[in-house]
Amino acid sequence: MQVAAAAAPHLLCPHLTAAATPRGLLLSDSEAPNFKASTMVGCICFHDFLGDSWGILFSHPWDFTPVCTTELGRAAKLAPEFAKRNVKLIALSVDSVEDHLAWSKDISAYNGNEPTEKLPFPIIDDKNWDLAILLGVLDPAEKDEKGVPVTARVLSVFGPDKKLELSILYPATTGRNCDEILRVVISLQLTEEKRVATPVGWKDGDSVMVLPTIPEEEAKKLFPKGVFTKELPSGKKYLCYTPQL
Ligand code: BEZ
Repeated sequence: MQVAAAAAPHLLCPHLTAAATPRGLLLSDSEAPNFKASTMVGCICFHDFLGDSWGILFSHPWDFTPVCTTELGRAAKLAPEFAKRNVKLIALSVDSVEDHLAWSKDISAYNGNEPTEKLPFPIIDDKNWDLAILLGVLDPAEKDEKGVPVTARVLSVFGPDKKLELSILYPATTGRNCDEILRVVISLQLTEEKRVATPVGWKDGDSVMVLPTIPEEEAKKLFPKGVFTKELPSGKKYLCYTPQL
């Protein structure tokens, strides 16, 4: 893998450096790094891969591991839902393209499909930890048999402007909930398109919340289905709902 942007100093060092702690990207980071990488579908340049789409990059410790296999299986099943919402998926794992190709047969079999069934997203070859280090996602608490920190389960959602919209960090031993990731993508897209927020446990189709920064008169015009405000002891009118548009 080559890094298109100017190489960060820690890229020049062995992978066990302070820079290799799982910082991940920060929401305030301006843009997704524009790295080049080998994948199961050839060499990609991350920004070109994303194009004008939303993008989800998710990292994995290794190929042929139990938790990762179940995660990639579920991500593959949900891939059409992400595609419908203009979201491209791409995984990263600290193994080679050859391993990824062999592992993807296991993932297809886990999903009850023919081993020849192709995964609906590429997996990046990160056998030299280059990208894990660039992204700062090595988990010092979880080490392989040689004592080397493994890649944490970091998931980053980028908007069409390539800005980081959401980041979730799980330890290597806890699998993600891919359905939750689809839910948050739907919420992020609603916020971007309709200027609404989504409350606790929100599901697609439930009422949404009017952003507290929108003045009452403007909210009435923006949300023709009505704005319903919950009375509160403080008398403040900040719990405002509107049916999903
Ligand atoms: C797994 O995917 O099953 C896994 C990977 C690294 C550490 C522990 C579990």
